[in-house]
Amino acid sequence: MNKTIFAVAASLLACAAWAETVVTIDAAKPGAVINKNVYGQFAEHLGTGIYEGMWVGPDSPIPNTKGWRNDVVDALKELHVPLVRWPGGCFADEYHWREGIGPRKDRPVKVNTMWGGVEEPNSVGTHEFFDLVELLGADAYVNGNLGTGSNQEMAEWLEYMTSNTKSGLAELRRKNGRDKPFKVAYFAVGNEAWGCGGNMTPAHYTNLYKTATTFLKAPHDNRPKFIASGGNDHDLTWTSTLSKEVKGNIDGISFHYYTIPTGKWEVKGAATGFGEGEWISTVKNTLAIDKMIANNVKVLDQNDPQKKIGFMVDEWGTWYDVEKGTNSGFLYQQNSLRDAVVAALNFNIFHNYAERVRMTNIAQMVNVLQAMILTDKDKMLKTPTYHAYHMYVPFQDATTLPVAIKDNASYKLGNTAVPQVSASAARGKDGKVYLALVNTNPNKETEVTVNVAGGKAGAVQGSVLTADAMDAHNTFAQPEAVKPVPFTAQAKGGKLSVKLPAKSVVVVNVE
Ligand code: AHR
Repeated sequence: MNKTIFAVAASLLACAAWAETVVTIDAAKPGAVINKNVYGQFAEHLGTGIYEGMWVGPDSPIPNTKGWRNDVVDALKELHVPLVRWPGGCFADEYHWREGIGPRKDRPVKVNTMWGGVEEPNSVGTHEFFDLVELLGADAYVNGNLGTGSNQEMAEWLEYMTSNTKSGLAELRRKNGRDKPFKVAYFAVGNEAWGCGGNMTPAHYTNLYKTATTFLKAPHDNRPKFIASGGNDHDLTWTSTLSKEVKGNIDGISFHYYTIPTGKWEVKGAATGFGEGEWISTVKNTLAIDKMIANNVKVLDQNDPQKKIGFMVDEWGTWYDVEKGTNSGFLYQQNSLRDAVVAALNFNIFHNYAERVRMTNIAQMVNVLQAMILTDKDKMLKTPTYHAYHMYVPFQDATTLPVAIKDNASYKLGNTAVPQVSASAARGKDGKVYLALVNTNPNKETEVTVNVAGGKAGAVQGSVLTADAMDAHNTFAQPEAVKPVPFTAQAKGGKLSVKLPAKSVVVVNVE
């Protein structure tokens, strides 16, 4: 090796040894508020997501309130769940609300043709759903049936829920036990109109949306925000057509994107027992949503410069091959540390688009896809995703603060490379500065220097979620194998260094 090459190699090695990520929070430049509904949830009549997982009925030996299991409701309350979307999903376009009101014993049993072909007892209907959201202290997001329903059916459902008059529908609601109107925060017209909602074109759906919303009426003090069914993945035509063509009566356009480890619907990849190849592809496929949101926001900024229309990611999360031995129509999957990392990466991205992304709903709340909670008869466990949501509670309604990341190394495997560190900061409603950090590298801890421009970072304290294995998860035998533990760091010599463990999520309050 000649002298020059040696000198270059030595200096590269030295750089590698010092290399550390520098995260600078600009506390003096507050940005948009992170709508608490970015932390919304989704509960569909699918598998054991509602029946068994949450609803056991008032006569169950499992302790419950108005039929909803107490253990699950108590755990969800700790997440400060702001919003629940119901009854679907694809199920919404086959749901007829009149079959879910009145005495439960008289309600028709149907077939859930969307999910597993099982019996749908209609035991959970409008009143039961509002019992749930009221127990949780959450807002309601009701998804109307455009596919097999009608404008009249949707309009009458909205009147039934919101009218304070003596109309026949309001009186029917009273007869069914609810005097005061329900509060509907959001009402969607159909779901995935490009697929299970009717295989429509954007232009056809846009016309149907305009007609439907003409007849969706509610008292001015109880008017929901109206959500149009939008696109998915890289398709921009839905956002573009809807935002160009619909004038008024549109508060948001929905968007769906699922993280599939292999990127292929036929063989998606397993929830546990995967190799590092599927770890990094999961991270990469998760981060892909950033560009999708950016592109949609660009279209919205052109067509809706006044920013009246929100971009609502009302379905997102991991979608794996179902667990062996379970009904393939039930979408039941384990949930590991990898899912917590996916959730945190998504949160950090959503925060960056807080101005437009005003609501998201992870799919789904219990026992379905990337769930918060798994249940087995009277047992329940909190998943790593649950813990990620819990750690991020201070970001609900917080004000974003710009974060600059310098010298962010890549985590690489084969031909795939992703940024090692993801970061997001906000000033919480309590006035404190919160910083969320993710280390995507499953093999290496990394050192992050934290600076607060216009302030001083003397110490950080909060919690960290990590584990030895990439697929570490909780089981009914070991429900607390993966859970957050306290995390602190102090400034030394005027420098605040935070050691992020390999494959970890950290949320701290910067003092
Ligand atoms: O979340 C499961 C399903 O995924 C929803 O019903 C549907 O909207 C989407 O395709």
